Amino acid sequence: MPKKKYELGLIGLGVMGRNLLLNMADSGFAVAGYDKNKEQVDTLMEEAKAYDMYGAKNIKDFVQSLESPRKILLLVPAGKIVDYVIADLLPLLNKEDIIIDGGNSFFKDTEARQKSLEEKGIHFIGMGVSGGAAGARLGPSMMPGGNKKAYNKIKKIMESIAAKVDGEPCITYLGQGSVGHYVKMVHNGIEYGLMQLLGETYDVMKRGCGLSNSKIAGHFAKWNENELESFLVEITSKIFKKKEKGEKKYVIDLIMDASKSKGTGKWTSQDGMNIGMPIPTIDIAVGTRYLSRLKEERIAASKILKGTSYKIKVDDKTAFIEKLRNALYFSFIVTYAQGMALLREASDAYKFKLDLEGVSRIWRGGCIVRAALLEDFRKAYDRDPKLVNLMVDKDIAKKLNKLQKDTREVLAVCIQSGLPIAALLNCLSYYDNYRSERLSANLIQAQRDFFGSHTYERIDKKGIFHTKWEA
Ligand code: 6PG
Repeated sequence: MPKKKYELGLIGLGVMGRNLLLNMADSGFAVAGYDKNKEQVDTLMEEAKAYDMYGAKNIKDFVQSLESPRKILLLVPAGKIVDYVIADLLPLLNKEDIIIDGGNSFFKDTEARQKSLEEKGIHFIGMGVSGGAAGARLGPSMMPGGNKKAYNKIKKIMESIAAKVDGEPCITYLGQGSVGHYVKMVHNGIEYGLMQLLGETYDVMKRGCGLSNSKIAGHFAKWNENELESFLVEITSKIFKKKEKGEKKYVIDLIMDASKSKGTGKWTSQDGMNIGMPIPTIDIAVGTRYLSRLKEERIAASKILKGTSYKIKVDDKTAFIEKLRNALYFSFIVTYAQGMALLREASDAYKFKLDLEGVSRIWRGGCIVRAALLEDFRKAYDRDPKLVNLMVDKDIAKKLNKLQKDTREVLAVCIQSGLPIAALLNCLSYYDNYRSERLSANLIQAQRDFFGSHTYERIDKKGIFHTKWEA
């Protein structure tokens, strides 16, 4: 075991963990890593030859190699494993030591862990880390929450390794408690929404317009050059170019159309329901992932249920694709707006005191939902930190008002063709509901009162009313 003390230790040396450590070492920090799996430690030491890094093969040596107060970052799968690692660490730690959970933990678990560890004098920071393996190596976006003094002790190192946009690091202290993991959860919910929208847009181009993969790649690449510039559009364009090694076949055409998920999207939807803030596009994105998994049922149904040919019937396909871009842009904005509205509501419900300008700022780089749009959102929250919904910001409303026309046109054509476009439609429907001064909810209230005497409020006078509907 080395005599020197290391500034930070990381547990969980999968590719994300290793890359984060290498990123820290690149920024000049002396760091240590530990993993129960000794092969992972060997892989780290192989990759870290050029650096002053310590790969520990037992947890005791690892903990003892760290300077006090110890700063230990966990990058292990969310769930029980986090508790097992904490249990292994606890007997070796001192008061004021800091554990940072950098995984996708459920925010309520983070809250419980914080409570039990703070009672023991150990600080626990829940920190969402986004950007995948490449982000971890080159600069992720990080969303920390918990004890502020403890955060200040890791601030320098985290700011150094974070992605930078306009010289600003894509990390900021978000507040007390589990807010960091909450914000990461919603980040992922938005990620689910955007990915579903991109999937549907691809389907419209492929099955609807009959475009080749290389044409589709070209459109996404072009869209990525201006307003729609974003990580997800960029990687989507690259996906459509990739062929099987030594073959003419495209990888995308060989992938089974049944998507998996690890839970963060579902949690976002569930929490939206729990606190009563609608995020229908995220809900539908979770639902369509589940629907995609009913592959055998879908194959059977395709032989029974009728629709139309999926073929788009338009005179000018080039103009249609341009409008499709506008529909995607419109839907991207609406999806972010739902996620941000959930964050605003959660901030009240859980007393997070969230600064949405800060969230938009740290999502501009490093993370999966990074996009040129985030700077527009940052400006909107800068103008009005209490903005109820991004869609009503003056600049964003101007964009939506312009884009909605093409969106309606494109989606109407898609409906005629029988293409499944649940998320795209859902964004337009959220927009139309939200901008509707009067909705049909008066009928729901009347029905509830009819069959269950649930009472209703009126628009012409104050109070609670009940009608004897059949009297
Ligand atoms: C990120 C990603 C990352 C992970 C997703 C995948 O921000 O870097 O969101 O956290 O890739 O959680 O989630 P699913 O497996 O649920 O699609």
